[in-house]
Amino acid sequence: MDDEQLQILQERAPALAALYTTGRSAILEARDMMTLEKVRVAVLGRKSPLTEMLRSISTAAPEDRPLLGKGGNMVRRVLESLVEEREAELKRAALSESLEHERLDVTLPGVPFPAGHEHLISQTMREVEDIFTGLGYRIAEGPEVELDYYNFTALNTPPSHPARSAHDTFWVQEPRETMPEAVVDADRGVLLRTHTSPVQVRVMEQQRPPVYVLCLGKVYRRDSDATHTPMFHQVEGLVVDESITLADLKGTVHYFTEEFFGGDRAIRVRPHFFPFTEPSIEVDVNCELCAGKGCRSCKHSGWLEIMGAGMVDPNLYGFVDYDPEAVSGFAFGMGVERMAMLKHGIPDLRLFYDNDVRFLRQF
Ligand code: PHE
Repeated sequence: MDDEQLQILQERAPALAALYTTGRSAILEARDMMTLEKVRVAVLGRKSPLTEMLRSISTAAPEDRPLLGKGGNMVRRVLESLVEEREAELKRAALSESLEHERLDVTLPGVPFPAGHEHLISQTMREVEDIFTGLGYRIAEGPEVELDYYNFTALNTPPSHPARSAHDTFWVQEPRETMPEAVVDADRGVLLRTHTSPVQVRVMEQQRPPVYVLCLGKVYRRDSDATHTPMFHQVEGLVVDESITLADLKGTVHYFTEEFFGGDRAIRVRPHFFPFTEPSIEVDVNCELCAGKGCRSCKHSGWLEIMGAGMVDPNLYGFVDYDPEAVSGFAFGMGVERMAMLKHGIPDLRLFYDNDVRFLRQF
């Protein structure tokens, strides 16, 4: 409707003109679709003044009827198309607003996905493995649920040997519980291995010398305090070949300590006892923190104990059919937790198993 038409309407049908102008501004002012729909019902709906007016044309004065009919219909069409335009406008605005707000920037960094890594104990075992495989050792494995025979008897620790009581064994099946008295064979019991040494016997049963193996794994003892957990890890090495001496053992251990701890390390050997080695020794490495002067970490001795070792007791060869006159060997064993604690200055063994990521993440 142009200005001229509106002016004519205002002069000749002011009520209709007023319906038009108020309807128009209500439509143009609607800010959203819901308001627009309400306005549409109020301005153009069945009960709106405009519809009422159109419906009552027949009762108007005859000379007014043509103008009211034509003008009323025109006002309705114009308002209807205004509603449509406004609707399209509001839809466009809503779309561009959602494009603006819900825009997805595919170049933004994603939600970080926490990646785990090997536990320090596993890392330490891999490190020790690397050092010894570099020397030509093979990795050997054995069962954690072990026969008494391999854990004790064939390691020169027969039933009733006092050294057995030092192991705080977890029994899976004690021999006497399940077997008739007549066939009781005290070394037929089943237990959780208390050390990795039974693997030595299993390896020697399966192969002839030369033997150069490293065995790593979980072992179990009935202990639990700041320096003992019921499950822990050991690494054990076994060498059997011609004319192996204690000097080979010392050289190997020295090489290992320098590779593992780094720096110029000295080792010290003290006599000890193990049933399966003769002679037996314990090996210390010098404390680097205090350069041997003595500090809290080495209990003021200047030395850190790192392993038990010794020359394989010739008695063991009898169990695996090796000739003790032809071969000799050495074995050593160490605790993986202890190695990791010494290397990284970790004060409490239990930290390894509390599963606190703030601790684990540091390694
Ligand atoms: N098996 C011994 C232990 O757990 C350690 C050891 C291994 C000692 C090999 C000597 C030789 O106590």
